[in-house]
Amino acid sequence: MATLQFKDKQVETPDNESIQLACQEADIPFGCRSGLCRTCEVIIDDGEENLSKLNKLEEQVDLPPKHRLACQCVAKKGIIKLHSVFDE
Ligand code: FES
Repeated sequence: MATLQFKDKQVETPDNESIQLACQEADIPFGCRSGLCRTCEVIIDDGEENLSKLNKLEEQVDLPPKHRLACQCVAKKGIIKLHSVFDE
């Protein structure tokens, strides 16, 4: 299991699966779910190495370092600490 740690919540998710459902549980907002709108953009505070590499859609939107799209990103294992770009 991978563990996603949000500001006031912790959610477990199976290894090598999308973080989308876990992020929904923690009230991260979603829009298109197709890598286009950036509503689900999150900032990785720790454990970036436990995530998949950027996929093609994430590369196309030109994300700043440590930013990922929760609808596209996969948790490989371990602990990942993150928050929504809207929670800055
Ligand atoms: S929900 Fe639109 S980019 Fe992720």
